[in-house]
Parts: sequence; C-alpha cells; structure tokens
Amino acid sequence: MPVRTKVGIIGAGPAGLLLSHLLHLDGIESVVLERQTRDHVENRIRAGVLEWGTRALLIEAGVGERMEREGLLHEGCLLRFGGETRRIDFQALTGKSVTVYGQHEVVRDLIAARLAAQGRLLFEASVAGIDGTTVHYTQDGVAQRLECDIIAGCDGFHGVTRGAIEDLKVYDRVYPFGWLGILAETPPASEELIYANHPDGFALLSMRSPSISRMYLQCAPDEDASAWSADRIWSALCTRLGQDLPEGKILQQGVTAMRSFVAEPMQTGRLFLTGDAAHIVPPTGAKGMNLAVGDVAVLARALRAFFHRDDDQALQGYGSTCLRRIWRVQRFSGWMTSLLHRFDTHNAFDQRVQLAELDYVTSSPAAMTTLAENYVGLPLT
Ligand code: APR
Ligand code: PHB
Repeated sequence: MPVRTKVGIIGAGPAGLLLSHLLHLDGIESVVLERQTRDHVENRIRAGVLEWGTRALLIEAGVGERMEREGLLHEGCLLRFGGETRRIDFQALTGKSVTVYGQHEVVRDLIAARLAAQGRLLFEASVAGIDGTTVHYTQDGVAQRLECDIIAGCDGFHGVTRGAIEDLKVYDRVYPFGWLGILAETPPASEELIYANHPDGFALLSMRSPSISRMYLQCAPDEDASAWSADRIWSALCTRLGQDLPEGKILQQGVTAMRSFVAEPMQTGRLFLTGDAAHIVPPTGAKGMNLAVGDVAVLARALRAFFHRDDDQALQGYGSTCLRRIWRVQRFSGWMTSLLHRFDTHNAFDQRVQLAELDYVTSSPAAMTTLAENYVGLPLT
C-alpha cells in the first residue's frame, strides 16, 4: 500500500527540514525522506553564518531559542591584506548583524521540532527516483511508494530530483582551488571573522563557540586532506592570517572543492527544487544555507496559498521569484571569491588590482555598504 501525503519532501538538510516545519505551522502535512541516518545529518559539519533574515525566520518559526542563546552575534568582520587589517562594520553600515551558529545545530533544532510535533521524518529512506507525483524509495531493503500532491526536491547537489526537471539548463563555474577546513579545540584568536588575502593563498578564521575555532586554507581542489599534518596546518594559518594562533586539538579536517552552479528552471509540474538541489555557491560569502532558507520561505508561502486558497499563482512563479535573489547571491559569492583568493592565472598586474580593490572596498563608505548589505543578507523573499 503506498503512503499518501500532501507534500513529499526529499532530503533532511536545512532546506527539507525547514520546509516541513513551516508547512506544519500552516497545518499542511508532509513526509520527509532522508537517505542518511539521523546521527549523520546531525553531525555533518558545514558553514555557520546566518544572515539576519535567516535568524529572524527561525525565531518567528519557533525554532530559534537555542540559536538565540548559543549563537554569536557578529556586528562586523575583518579583512586582512597587504599587512593591514580593515573592519567592515555591518551594524553601522546596515543596522544589521549576522549570527555565527553551525548549520548542523540548525539541523538538530529542526529535527527536534519535527519529532516533537510527531512529524513524519524517515531516515535511511533512500529515494531512487520520482515519477509524476509518486516518489519511489527504499527503506530496510523494501521498495516503497509515496503518493504526493506536491514534491519538494530538497536533496542537495548530489540528489536525484534535479534530473526530473524538464528542459534543464545548467550554468556553472568551477574554481581552480578548494578549501581545507578544520574544526579545532581552541578559543578563536579573534572576536570577529578574519578573511585574509595572502600571497600563499586565502585563509579564514571563524568559530563555533568561545572554545571552538573553525578555520580554512585555500588549497588545490583535489588536495588530499590527510597530507596536511597539524604542524603544517597551524604554520600555514599563522603565516596567512599574519598572527600567532593558540593551537589546539584538530577535531575534524576536510577539503571542499568550490563551484558556482545554478539549474534552471527550478520547477516542473508538481515538482519544486530548493537549496543545493538547484544551486551551489562558493563558501566565501557563507551563503549556501541562507540561499536554501530563502527558497524555502518562498515555497512555503506559495504552498500555503495553494492548499488553503486553491491559488497556484505564487507556485507558478516560485522559480522566477527565487532565481532573482539566487543570481544576486551568486554575483556576491563569486565576487568575494575573486577578491580574496590567489589565482595562478593572475600576473603581477592582476595582483596589484586585487589589492587596490581590497583597499577600495574597505575604505569607501559606498563600497563598504555594498559588501555589508550583501553579507548580512538581501531580503529573503
Ligand atoms: N534520497 C533521500 N535523501 C537524499 C537523497 C536521496 N536520493 N539524495 C540526497 N539526499 C539527502 C542528503 O543525504 C542530505 O541530507 O538530501 C539532503 C540534502 O541536504 P543538504 O545537502 O544539506 O542540502 P540543503 O538542505 O539544500 O542545504 C543547503 O547545505 O550543502 C550545504 O552549503 C550548503 O549550506 C548549504 C546547505
Ligand atoms: C564558517 O564558519 O564555517 C564559515 C564562515 C564564513 C564563511 C564560510 C564559512 O565565509
């Protein structure tokens, strides 16, 4: 017997979980199918900067309590280049700030909220494909079907739903570098994030809590993370960040390749893509999860009109509404990436221009405001 639901949600990342929660608040039932275990998704370390709009939405949706308690409010960030440190004061320039709170913490809060509300959230349920409004999945080795009115493809970049979009067009750019990221048991050496442009390559100092640092180094896209000993990592971080760092146990290390990617359209019939299933940004602007949250806010509102008022106008316009913001965020993330990284194709002239641009964006009030308003986040919907 196939199971029925109004909205079949594939993937329990931030996008799928938030959608399921927002629909629940509107009295619309859904089923979430996730191929990994709960433990896996709750411990998957990803970025951790929430735009002001993401923070506001989580609070409004009643899932922001722990974030408000444990998240770190950041009113600015530092850019370090050519031996100088310049501050971008988000609060003074935009009246807004960002919140440093790990993506996996958001995922934990959303899972807790869904389970507390007896939401149907199935782990180790792997979707093989979709056929119209039927989702085919396997759980405990048994092939099953989920019949839906609407399907939300929230299955990330490596998911299956994007393949079901008709006349799909893909726009992408692959960068000739990646990031080696570490999570370390040491107090952050700065109260605010430091984005560093250095001749050896980019480095970023971030954090998760007053005792846990999160740091990144530009590296080759196919770099073997295990080739980096702790000594090599700390020494490269000190050189590129231009300061001493309190060393601590490295709890996790890994390499992420970097790309910019957009799939259009984001919908076909009753299928709607959200988050990484439809787009990827390089992590330099910390926009990945925030973009996913923006899509979900638009989709949840459109589904409310569809199910409660039988009005499908907003649903028809879902993709084009989202894409306007997505392309603006692609522009910003690509620009931050080009501003801060070392490119092997750059000659000495290009490097001087990059430093001049850093000087300009950290001294002109107009340019600083542009950076700040994009960093704290353009309006979600
Ligand atoms: N069946 C069921 N679940 C699947 C399938 C499948 N065939 N394919 C993928 N999934 C699940 C993945 O296991 C993952 O948990 O879909 C989920 C997608 O979650 P995310 O990758 O976190 O994507 P999203 O929710 O869009 O969040 C975007 O995550 O990747 C980061 O930087 C990105 O911060 C951004 C955020
Ligand atoms: C992070 O803390 O993981 C982080 C912060 C800022 C970024 C990217 C990642 O731009």
